[in-house]
Amino acid sequence: MNAQLFRAIAERAVSMIPDGGVVGLGTGHAARSFIHVLGECVRAGLRVRGLPTSTESANLAQDLGIPLTSFEEIDAIDVTVDGADEVDPHCNLIKGYHGALVREKIVAAASKKFIILVGPEKLVPALGGRGILPVEVLPFALAPCRRLIQALGCVPQLRTREGASYVTDNGNNILDCKVAPLNNPQEMELALRAIPGVVGTGLFIGMVNTVLIQHGERIEERTGQ
Ligand code: A5P
Repeated sequence: MNAQLFRAIAERAVSMIPDGGVVGLGTGHAARSFIHVLGECVRAGLRVRGLPTSTESANLAQDLGIPLTSFEEIDAIDVTVDGADEVDPHCNLIKGYHGALVREKIVAAASKKFIILVGPEKLVPALGGRGILPVEVLPFALAPCRRLIQALGCVPQLRTREGASYVTDNGNNILDCKVAPLNNPQEMELALRAIPGVVGTGLFIGMVNTVLIQHGERIEERTGQ
């Protein structure tokens, strides 16, 4: 979906942000559209502080004049707005195709409200439907993590960029694990997180409050937990 198509759901999400609030800024195309709309509102007088989930989103927010904050300065985030790679019927997610999964989960977990913006192509009957589950691992632990993840029935592939290992904002690598649709995503989450060296997974279970889906001109709103 192109940036213009996200505009209507980005505007709907901005309308859910309280004046004076702290806003978690996601990463990816949908989040970028949201940050652009938020920047327009800030220039029109909305008072917010943004807590970005990536260097990319921090740079964009700064360029657009959105004041930034950090966990050192705040106790909680009022609303976080982000995209997703998969959304299941219970509003559980797979995220991380753009590599910001760990910071995205930290920011989402600290948020009173977590709003997701997607097109209908992200809706799946079961998580894993698009075949990839990103997992962030410490570079030191890459080889054992690969073996232990494989033993769980996934096929881990090291993410690369321009011929080299992809490095996250946290200095780690990503294993894109080939998966079939997951019968029990919670069980997979626990099994992956029990592996020493796994920093985080792209599974976001029971975290979402609202999913806004742009179907052409129409916006569908789904409610999570
Ligand atoms: C970033 O790591 C991801 O979790 C993104 O939020 C996700 O990939 C969705 O991105 P798009 O909005 O670009 O599809």
